Amino acid sequence: MHVIETQNLSKEYTAKFSKQKVNALNDFTFKVKQGEIFGLLGPNGAGKTTLIKMLLAITFPTRGDAKLFGTDVKNYKAKTKVGYLPENHKFPSYLTGEQVLSYYGQLSGMKDDSNMTKRIDEMLGMMNLTQWRKTRIKKYSKGMMQKLGLAQSMLSDPDLIFLDEPTDGVDPIGRKEIRDILHEIKSRGKTIFLNSHLLSEVEMICDRVAILNKGDLIKEGNVDDLTKAENIFAVHTVEPIGMDIKQKVMAIDPNAGIGENEINSEAGIDKINGIIDLLRAEKIRIQTINQKTSTLEELFINVIKKDNTN
Ligand SMILES: Nc1ncnc2c1ncn2[C@@H]1O[C@H](COP(=O)(O)OP(=O)(O)OP(=O)(O)O)[C@@H](O)[C@H]1O
Ligand SMILES: [Mg+2]
Repeated sequence: MHVIETQNLSKEYTAKFSKQKVNALNDFTFKVKQGEIFGLLGPNGAGKTTLIKMLLAITFPTRGDAKLFGTDVKNYKAKTKVGYLPENHKFPSYLTGEQVLSYYGQLSGMKDDSNMTKRIDEMLGMMNLTQWRKTRIKKYSKGMMQKLGLAQSMLSDPDLIFLDEPTDGVDPIGRKEIRDILHEIKSRGKTIFLNSHLLSEVEMICDRVAILNKGDLIKEGNVDDLTKAENIFAVHTVEPIGMDIKQKVMAIDPNAGIGENEINSEAGIDKINGIIDLLRAEKIRIQTINQKTSTLEELFINVIKKDNTN
């Protein structure tokens, strides 16, 4: 059983007055396993929030199905083990940090007892907010508000957490803290689904991503696989590569890119090994061998550009 599963999930909005139709999501089929950190990426208006809203049954699909923990999202029981941090959340500003958690804890079905108090203490500690617990949240900074929102989403110890832009407005140290927290809860078997525009962040946090564009799923896969640039290997040497060796390398791979101390080749792993044998036989020491990677940002920009010209 998958934690999240959709089948041809589609949403068409109709504008109230002009009656113009917008395909916000088209036939979106995907699965998320337990313990995964899944990232949903896409330009503004791609359909990311629409997807989250349908998974939480806040808005309803025009077509298709969605299940959480094997239960159709139309059944409210599907949501009992789910936490949610909405984008731009607005908690009542006259409440203190601990009152916010108590209020939302009770909304998610927790009893106002010593267990809940203990859990609130734990969450405030985890977010480094303990000293601010009795302060009204209107005095909180953006980063503190975001961490309180995250504490809220995790309070009832849900098995699946939806985070819409969790590190929005958080400084680098706070973002690192949030990353560590997300990895910690993943290690406890929890599943995390997040939306973000911060691709470097997503690259560090997520196991798997999907890229949406204009309602279509255009790419999906493991972050490691997606960021491996085809098959380009770079071999760096300690000693410089002289003309004679250069020619011998070209005999193995005529398309190799050869610099003073570097050889780039796409000729496949066997030929790369052939080149390394050659270098070693010529008493040239190898410094490093790398498979070249592209960043998630490069991949994102490339696939969106390509999709938009189609
Ligand atoms: N209630 C609505 N009525 C009509 N159209 C809507 C409604 N909500 C969203 N849309 C349209 O659906 C499309 C997808 O919107 P959505 O909010 O899901 O995008 P998004 O990927 O979350 O964007 P962002 O990155 O800006 O948050 C957009 O074209 C948007 O204008
Ligand atoms: Mg959105």
